[in-house]
Amino acid sequence: MTMRDNPVVTYLREKLNERRENQLLRSLRTLVTGIDFTSNDYLGIARHRELHAHYLKLHEQATVNNGSTGSRLLSGNSPEAESFERWYAGIHNAEAGLLFNSGYDANVGLLSCIAQRHDTLISDELVHASIIDGMRLSYANRFKFAHNQIDDLEAKLRQSKGLTYVVVESVYSMDGDIADLRSIAAICKKYQASLIVDEAHALGIRGTSGKGLVDELGLREDVFARIHTFGKAAGFHGACILGSRDLIEYLINFSRPFIYSTALPPLEILMLRTCLEYMFAADESRYTLSNSISVYNELMNCTTPTPIKAVPIPGNSNAIRLAQILQKNGFDIRPILSPTVPEGTERLRVILHSFNSVDEIKSLCRSIQYEC
Ligand SMILES: Cc1ncc(COP(=O)(O)O)c(C=O)c1O
Repeated sequence: MTMRDNPVVTYLREKLNERRENQLLRSLRTLVTGIDFTSNDYLGIARHRELHAHYLKLHEQATVNNGSTGSRLLSGNSPEAESFERWYAGIHNAEAGLLFNSGYDANVGLLSCIAQRHDTLISDELVHASIIDGMRLSYANRFKFAHNQIDDLEAKLRQSKGLTYVVVESVYSMDGDIADLRSIAAICKKYQASLIVDEAHALGIRGTSGKGLVDELGLREDVFARIHTFGKAAGFHGACILGSRDLIEYLINFSRPFIYSTALPPLEILMLRTCLEYMFAADESRYTLSNSISVYNELMNCTTPTPIKAVPIPGNSNAIRLAQILQKNGFDIRPILSPTVPEGTERLRVILHSFNSVDEIKSLCRSIQYEC
């Protein structure tokens, strides 16, 4: 049998053709031009030239290995990783923190191992794929509640068995709306459920020094675990789970993406800390960003108080067509298509950054209004 007539290859081609015919085929692009209204680099840290120079200097002066050489439980642990975790937990008044290679790993690593067969995991229906995938790997009972609907959350809490965990995001990545965290925390308390909050899109943006929404609302004591990802406002990559010492020790023992994956290199951890220090101090950029959010909201009649903006364009082909027009007009804007979002809720996702000028934002809004 050659590869050509291998039935698996035939199956893969059929699946890809199906996607192509439905205009759903995903493909990688490197050469993207236009004003950045797409990346998660909210505060411009990923593109910061001084930080880039610092990165090069770190490499020049390095006294540590290039790679971490193994998983944390074998040869990959380092003083840099441990000192980062102590520092980061201290910043957030958490007992302890544990680094993961990405936010995806952190969510899968936590949610796949925390709840057992007789327990219950309840998540908002709009949580990120990494939360869904982590929950799928768990043997626990699983429920979704209607987005941000406390009544529905309560209904699911009434049906829960064993130890119960509720999982939400603080800022939702597709609509940019904010979880009703106070009410969610209160209802979790009432039903003795443990609250897990993914702060991916709140870190760097919300709260004093951008410490996140849990910090902003003073809910630290009510949250069982916080997931902080470093590929968005921090402009780097990796993630940290914050929680009690017991939780972190449990993850070191049971979280498979932590146990069975090569650790972040020590140099990357040093650079990560530099990016985060920069991010916590970036009040001026946060101020500029919040002005930009107001400018956009006023022009587009939008109410979400975050830099993530959804422009609804139902239908994949409509969303693709409008994105292409805007790209031709000089904006780097991408469509968000089904099945990433439910059919009928396709949209353009506009991400505002501290480095987008008011003129650029106005010009983008005019283009969207003209073309829609
Ligand atoms: C809410 C949320 N959690 C987790 C992740 C995954 O983080 P990472 O990109 O670091 O894997 C994302 C990424 O888009 C996200 O939006």
